[in-house]
Amino acid sequence: MCGIIGTIGDRNIVPALIGGLRQLEYRGYDSAGVAAITQAHTLARVRTEGKIASLDEKVTAAKLEAPIGIGHTRWATHGAPVERNAHPHFSPDGRFAVVHNGIIENASEIKSMLLKGGVFASDTDTEVIAHLLQLYYTGDVVQAIRDTCRRLRGAWALAILCLDTPDTLYGAASGSPLLAAKGENGVYLASDAIAIREKAVGCRLHKGEICALDRDALRFFDAEGKPVFKELAPVSANENDTDKGAYAHHMLREIMQQPDAVGRTLSPLIEDGRVVIDDGVLSADFVKNGLREIKIVACGSAYHTGMTGAMLFERLSRVSARAEIASEFRYASPLIDEGTLAIFVSQSGETADTLAALRLAKERGAKILSIVNVPGSAIASESDCVIHTKAGREIAVATTKAYSAQLSVFYALAIRLASLKGEIDEETARRLAHELAALPDRIAETIEVSVAPAKALAEQIYARPDMFFIGRQLDFATATEGSLKMKEISYLNSQAYAAGELKHGTISLVEPGTPVIAVATDPAVAAKTQSNVCEVKARGAKSVAVVTRSLAPAFADADVVFTVPDTSPYFAGSLAVLPLQLLSYYTALKRGCDIDQPKNLAKSVTVE
Ligand code: M6R
Repeated sequence: MCGIIGTIGDRNIVPALIGGLRQLEYRGYDSAGVAAITQAHTLARVRTEGKIASLDEKVTAAKLEAPIGIGHTRWATHGAPVERNAHPHFSPDGRFAVVHNGIIENASEIKSMLLKGGVFASDTDTEVIAHLLQLYYTGDVVQAIRDTCRRLRGAWALAILCLDTPDTLYGAASGSPLLAAKGENGVYLASDAIAIREKAVGCRLHKGEICALDRDALRFFDAEGKPVFKELAPVSANENDTDKGAYAHHMLREIMQQPDAVGRTLSPLIEDGRVVIDDGVLSADFVKNGLREIKIVACGSAYHTGMTGAMLFERLSRVSARAEIASEFRYASPLIDEGTLAIFVSQSGETADTLAALRLAKERGAKILSIVNVPGSAIASESDCVIHTKAGREIAVATTKAYSAQLSVFYALAIRLASLKGEIDEETARRLAHELAALPDRIAETIEVSVAPAKALAEQIYARPDMFFIGRQLDFATATEGSLKMKEISYLNSQAYAAGELKHGTISLVEPGTPVIAVATDPAVAAKTQSNVCEVKARGAKSVAVVTRSLAPAFADADVVFTVPDTSPYFAGSLAVLPLQLLSYYTALKRGCDIDQPKNLAKSVTVE
């Protein structure tokens, strides 16, 4: 994982490096560093444990100034997040400085075989790159990078400085994102356009490519080191909306932005009271004559939206559908062919496991549709077709508005697929589209009525060591997301169970006062969930129910009840998740956790 940046400017580029790294902190924030070639022709380096704010202090104290430099914000893979493992790493002779995003899978092999043990200053996989550059360097940096990359297995995006060529910034990529760009004030290498804080033109480096950037020219090379021409296009940062406004945390602001996020996402998908999905995404011919099954592949919260999507596809359109965890999918010999519609869901569009699964599905002939929030991301660009969620930039590590936007896309897809399959008639399709169009208002209403009870419940449960989330069918998917949100930001041990499973073992963990949060929005299974609530209450649990208005009377005996507006049971997950998001937010707040940047996590997980 990690975020990298490199820049050359006319004046001191250190503020641009630090500013860019602040934008890249979503990719990791456990340690950071910069290296620069100063006017005095020295390779200077400042590194720190912790976030960019502490790097900034150290850089200021060191009075570091330079016209060319590289920077890194880290999410540790090899070696603890301590200063000596922070990037940039230097070659033993001090000629090369390297920052890296990705994983070098054969690092230990290189260390023992090629570098004969060597003397290493860090525990990282990255340091072998700096050693290899020194080993292969005979005066031509591009050739040294080419020969180094030939020895590497895994994934990398690299920014490199060489003391012998103080006006040139080098880059190389394979499997991790890297953008080379040129603006008024400088040239750049970056993991994400968001780090380039001026108008610029540029391009992504493809697998194996190398670049050498001077103040006036961007040069590109293929994996053999042969020059290649690459078209430059305007580089667009997603949305430079990084202000928390009046909110204490990005997460709270993003929770509040959900009505807009869902409204914007649905707007191009509903026209004249009907769901419209481009023919290129779902054609009548493919649905009737080609489509055999749907696989939805994603990680974390995106996978939870896939659980909902799969259930809806099966229920509404009677097409066989399964949600798959991306990191498992590619190792499971999945059955995929031309009759498979493979849907990849990702906020960032860069999640390594999801991207790898996409490539596998593509190889095997599946039709690839992705649901992505970041336009131009790797997953979006490698898909046959894309539906963009329009959640805007999501900064908090715990996803909220992107999750809701993804759900709304699945709702629209399920309606359209059911219509094309002839499983629902025109009138039902219109009624469901009408319910869908009302979702943003219902989300707003739910958030408004949930804030106070969520705060109050957080006060009661924040010190409990563990808790459970339960639900059946679609409500189970919502419970699973609620549980992830809770553990992710409050560090409480929380588990989600299909409500009927609890009694098959886990109920032995229920103690007097253990919070058990039941989601029940589907009338078809609500009575069963209600029985499960009685069972845990009988064992002393603190029972909490998240239910729709019409189901609320059946749950009157629960200790705490969150009521959400009535809507189609197919879409109720969009509402039920909101009190759960708020509950985790206020619980984490009460526990004094770092809500926007929880420990050990990163927003975008670009390693497998
Ligand atoms: O960017 P992606 O949607 O592909 O990310 C997938 C997961 O890493 C992500 O949903 C993660 O689980 C969130 N932190 C959950 O809040």
